[in-house]
Amino acid sequence: MNSITTAVPLRAASLPKSYLHLTIRGCTGSVATAGLRCGGPLLASKINHRNTKRSISSTPHTQTKEFFPPPTAPHIKEVETAWAHPVYTEEQMRHVTVAHRETKDWADWVALSTVRLLRWGMDFVTGYRHPPPGKEHEAKFQMTEQKWLTRFVFLESVAGVPGMVGGMLRHLRSLRRMKRDNGWIETLLEEAYNERMHLLTFLKVAEPGWFMRLMVLGAQGVFFNGFFLSYLMSPRICHRFVGYLEEEAVITYTRAIQDIDHGKLPKWTNLEAPEIAVQYWKMPEGQRTMKDLLMYVRADEAKHREVNHTLGNLNQAADPNPYSVKYKDPSKAHPGKGIANLKATGWEREEVI
Ligand SMILES: [Fe+2]
Ligand SMILES: [Fe+2]
Repeated sequence: MNSITTAVPLRAASLPKSYLHLTIRGCTGSVATAGLRCGGPLLASKINHRNTKRSISSTPHTQTKEFFPPPTAPHIKEVETAWAHPVYTEEQMRHVTVAHRETKDWADWVALSTVRLLRWGMDFVTGYRHPPPGKEHEAKFQMTEQKWLTRFVFLESVAGVPGMVGGMLRHLRSLRRMKRDNGWIETLLEEAYNERMHLLTFLKVAEPGWFMRLMVLGAQGVFFNGFFLSYLMSPRICHRFVGYLEEEAVITYTRAIQDIDHGKLPKWTNLEAPEIAVQYWKMPEGQRTMKDLLMYVRADEAKHREVNHTLGNLNQAADPNPYSVKYKDPSKAHPGKGIANLKATGWEREEVI
């Protein structure tokens, strides 16, 4: 087992280096991970729940606290989720592609421009520079495991906000107007939950230092309030915005997967996905590497891309959520929970309503 402490590649030259630390938590040996694998799901679960973090790291002190199992509740085995993740096949995940929905009106343009502005800011903050064609091998464009993890943690810490804000506001509107919601709330909250699981998974691999935490705190404060006000004014633009944001997330994870394929991230070649991920995505034996993990996360982002572009095509007040309805003709292709019928740019209203 190993644990590597490395400086986060943030472009904050004026900050003292000692404050920019991520603890990269890995396991290159075979003992811990082989134990989890060979013991089967039950044993793996017991090992995991006894002490998840220690099982993959020898780092003596951690800042990220574990909540399960609660140390003072000996009768509790585990917490059950209301949102079991749908099973993705390897074949389905390999078919996930980078895609872009063209803007069709001024509202789409506003959403896309906002995403591009945020993308620029995020690239700056997380030290990411995508190389122009022909300059892929220049050192300043090279991404390391630490750089990717910084980006993932920051990305996922804000990605869980929109679904929660949208679900909360629709919940409050339902209470206020004493009307049903047409099934949107659960899908939005489930999306927020899924994004939080992405974050919790990456936190098993990397532990942010205080500067990163400070940035996450600031970003959440700004983004939550900005999205809250925006959703009150135009939920349709907000869903389009999230659709475009998820397009960027798919690009990010696709590039990270390509870096693994090209041998640029050697520390991840044999690194096992954390147990929390194995359980959440029901990752099968032999398909539990970091690359597999990124394939699952990318598929989730592609699903969010589809869901939000679809919701952005609908009448926000009147249309039912096409992801939580039963269709009269089940033989036709319809939106669903998995990625079997994934539509990269979303379903049009006339296709689903
Ligand atoms: Fe995510
Ligand atoms: Fe997402």
